[in-house]
Amino acid sequence: MCGIVGYVGAGEAVPLLLNGLGRLEYRGYDSAGLAVHSGSGLDLRKCAGRVEDLAQRLVANPVAGKAGIAHTRWATHGAPTRANAHPLTDCRGEVALVHNGVIENCDALRTKLSKLGHRFTSETDSEVVAHLIEEAFEGNLERAVAAALTRVEGTLGLAAMSVHDPARIVVARRGAPLLLGIGENEEATWVASDVAAVLEHTRNIVYLEDDEVAILTPSGHETINLGRDRGRVGWEPVPKEVSRIDWDLAKIEKAGYPHFMLREIHEQPHTVRDAMRGRLLAEEGTARLGGLDELRPDIDRAERIVLTGCGTSWHAALVGEYILEALARLPVEVEYASEFRYRDPIIAPGTLVGGISQSGETADTLAAVREAARLGAPTFGIVNVVGSTIARETRAGIYTHAGPEIGVASTKAFVAQVASLALLGLMIARRRGLGREEGRSFVRALDGLPALIGEVLATEDHIRRVAEEFADASNFLYLGRGPNFPIALEGALKLKEISYIHAEGYPAAEMKHGPIALIDENMPVVFMAPRGAVYSKVLLNIEEVKARGGRVIVLVTGRETDLGRKVDHVIPVPATLPLLQPIVNVVPLQLLAYHIAVLRGCDVDRPRNLAKTVTVE
Ligand code: AGP
Repeated sequence: MCGIVGYVGAGEAVPLLLNGLGRLEYRGYDSAGLAVHSGSGLDLRKCAGRVEDLAQRLVANPVAGKAGIAHTRWATHGAPTRANAHPLTDCRGEVALVHNGVIENCDALRTKLSKLGHRFTSETDSEVVAHLIEEAFEGNLERAVAAALTRVEGTLGLAAMSVHDPARIVVARRGAPLLLGIGENEEATWVASDVAAVLEHTRNIVYLEDDEVAILTPSGHETINLGRDRGRVGWEPVPKEVSRIDWDLAKIEKAGYPHFMLREIHEQPHTVRDAMRGRLLAEEGTARLGGLDELRPDIDRAERIVLTGCGTSWHAALVGEYILEALARLPVEVEYASEFRYRDPIIAPGTLVGGISQSGETADTLAAVREAARLGAPTFGIVNVVGSTIARETRAGIYTHAGPEIGVASTKAFVAQVASLALLGLMIARRRGLGREEGRSFVRALDGLPALIGEVLATEDHIRRVAEEFADASNFLYLGRGPNFPIALEGALKLKEISYIHAEGYPAAEMKHGPIALIDENMPVVFMAPRGAVYSKVLLNIEEVKARGGRVIVLVTGRETDLGRKVDHVIPVPATLPLLQPIVNVVPLQLLAYHIAVLRGCDVDRPRNLAKTVTVE
């Protein structure tokens, strides 16, 4: 998904825009561009590639102005070329536009506009909006933007400037995140896709809702709600609440690590601690989740919980299913959000639906939660980004407090999600009869997790040595049982995302029903074999792989000796309760994927074709 940033104020816009774009690049890095109003006209600079490539171009061919808009792209329509880079303009170059989202009826609009004589210079869907604004323009940019929105279907967060207005930016939101930054010690107003782009300058944030248009000037903003959701197109200025962000800038820096991903992996002891802060009630042996208070009666009446999400968040939901069912004896179903939203799901009374999302903006998860609410289910969110759309649209929720996660491959947000699900499971279980003593021992185990993760991080050198042996692999299999099966999926996803090695995760026993055909001396197989009810079964699966010449890496709890002679590599991890072992077991898999990717020279923080927040379908 693309990243948008805009600035209007007394300062020089270009360095501020480039800096903001750099902070948004994890959202998409196919091309970059900006437009500034020099006072006499709109100047555009854009290129295929990274923000630093754009910065180079601006050194060679500078532009200047006190107001500007900028964009970093994740291509949906049209290849990552300079022509398809934003900003895009109308025929006369009088309107410049940057857009995040997808215009679903772009083909029909393009045909109509071409018939009216409009000439298109890109293959993008976004460019139609610039021409629609041109069509509607009668001297007032915001009115023209609003008129254009009445003809557009799809999702958008956009910012536009007109050659006629040197110190005005008009922005609009429908379905893609957009927020305003209000200058603290200066006359300045910002627009951005997320807070990381403006945090250096202000913590005063205004979140735009769907179908809102805002006019930005140095002295502030005026926000209009088009009221489309009330079935009419109006023009109603609305007061907007200013939220104060408590994240500090240091949180979005690398802090001396070579990559954000490695920094975030090493943050996880603190992350789990922060996710549980103020929520563990050791004496009562339960958890307090104030953000769910409003949903308490529904939780107590719940007969079924549906957890939904995408990617890593879906894996967290799978671990949550094991924890909630085992602890609270409450049936849980886990749904891919992209499937759930279109399959007319059965939402019987007593069904609660939880949307899990790091960004809180993932289009499929947002739509799944909206669909559940439309079908009458009470909804809650397990979300990391404060003030994000899923957080604001669900009736109640749990913030995971993992802090900003910049690396595209999610790591710390995952452990915070699973820790939050464990707290939820404990809270519900204690309200449904789980004994105080059992609750207390679960609280003690939760409380011990940060130290255990610290122990795993201390074995990084060993894991790097294992990575060195497998960095040239072209396939990997990950196998686990019970709550470690989702960790097999997550380990495989991490490796796929950042090293581009094909990898699959499977329930260990599922292997002999097909995947075992893949096993030979070139197939590394990672097993999770913590001591426990199915340990001996996993040992059998390991034997099956070794019998076919597979190379085995095994995660074991405690000091294992005899297994060491049977497998290629042993990665010892500290033991905890079986339901919480996934939080410990995922860390060595994150490190293994990270070091293999680094050894293969991959751009770990900006893996190809990916984006951190997927705001389109
Ligand atoms: C995970 O590393 C990926 N970045 C991706 O699968 C991600 O988990 C998915 O897009 C969901 O994102 P969300 O948690 O922000 O909703």
